Amino acid sequence: MLLPSGLLVPIAGTDQSHEYHAHSEHYYLTGTALPGSVLAFDPTEGWTLFAPLPSLEERIWVGDGESVDTARERSGIDTVRPVSGLRAWLERHRGQPLAIAGNDDLLRNPEGYAIASWPALEVAIDHEASAWISTRIAEARRAKDPAELALMRGAAGATRAGHLAAMRLARPGMTERQLQVEVEAEFFRTGSARTAYGSIVGGGPNAAVLHFSPTARPFAGGELILMDAAAEYEAYAADVTRTFPVDARFAGPQRDIYELVYRVQQAAIEGVRPGKEFRELHLEACAGIAQGLVDLGILRGQPEDLVDQDAHALFFVHGLGHMLGLATHDAGGCLAGRLPSDRLGLKWLRADLPLQEDYVVTIEPGIYFIKAVFEDPELRRKYRDAVNWSLVDTFADFGGVRIEDDVRVTASGHEVLSAAIPSRLDEIEALRREALTS
Ligand code: GLY
Ligand code: MN
Ligand code: MN
Repeated sequence: MLLPSGLLVPIAGTDQSHEYHAHSEHYYLTGTALPGSVLAFDPTEGWTLFAPLPSLEERIWVGDGESVDTARERSGIDTVRPVSGLRAWLERHRGQPLAIAGNDDLLRNPEGYAIASWPALEVAIDHEASAWISTRIAEARRAKDPAELALMRGAAGATRAGHLAAMRLARPGMTERQLQVEVEAEFFRTGSARTAYGSIVGGGPNAAVLHFSPTARPFAGGELILMDAAAEYEAYAADVTRTFPVDARFAGPQRDIYELVYRVQQAAIEGVRPGKEFRELHLEACAGIAQGLVDLGILRGQPEDLVDQDAHALFFVHGLGHMLGLATHDAGGCLAGRLPSDRLGLKWLRADLPLQEDYVVTIEPGIYFIKAVFEDPELRRKYRDAVNWSLVDTFADFGGVRIEDDVRVTASGHEVLSAAIPSRLDEIEALRREALTS
């Protein structure tokens, strides 16, 4: 079996590369993130880590990088060899079945791993075994061990510092990008080397765009700010969203929508325990959102019927959450054989499995008023009776509310890793009041 880490991806027109992310399967098994390395396994020889040695040019331009000794120490693998030895390893295994997991760029670019070409090696790549190994590694990665959880707590801590800074610094007139700079600077000051994903910062109507990239648009009084931003810590991710007012208070319907999302989120967190089917938790959250939207006069009908028709999904347009760990949307979210549904209300659900101890999932319900949805004539026709469209049209500039926390499944329930980041309406208002008067 070979498990490549992945190669650097050059940026055209520069002498540099895109930020490097080692393939999670390689990182999980080696704890190293060296571009162009390969973890090899042979049932009789055991494990070998093939690591690249820097060329003279690389030493001149980017430095020596991690040494073979450090790779040996970090990986715990005794046999660490220069990647130039991979070809001889393959020649020794000529004709034997070979599984390849990790980054499949090894197949497209063997030269990047010091293999001249595949045909000459006459290997018999077993695609079924390759997929089987990836699935087994994903399953092994679901439950986090104490060392991984310590890093995830580090990610949550840096993320807390960033969110608190954002709630302290946001002002009318400040731009989304300025707030992004503040939150990310705080992550880095608190020990994080990079963000877990591209920070999402949207003010006013931009808060309705699920993965909105911050722009130079300034925040205005009366608007909400949705900030979905988190730190990565030693390769482990947090994933946290907070929504707060530009002013010191949530105003009018902002209060109602915020309280509704908060209630649904707390109920979902309460439901996290070993054995609980994540899909069920999602559908319970959908029912809570449908009920709340009926109470607010936005939806009409019985909550269960509305969820069956996916009417709630016009507002709660994504899944309740996903696995979290080495990736923001971590591997192993769906049990083998469970396929994503094409139903509007289920197709973005990225986790479909019974929860077990030490899994870490996000719980992130939201309600959004999305122009693209409301301007769609077919959806307006289909949901003519279920939606009070004339009321919805008054929410055109509302944006959206999402509250997202990172939750570990414990032996008997749950632990919220991001609990120290305030999310109760009165706590957020107190923070904003203090920020705006100081
Ligand atoms: N930040 C991406 C997500 O919440 O899934
Ligand atoms: Mn998020
Ligand atoms: Mn998320």
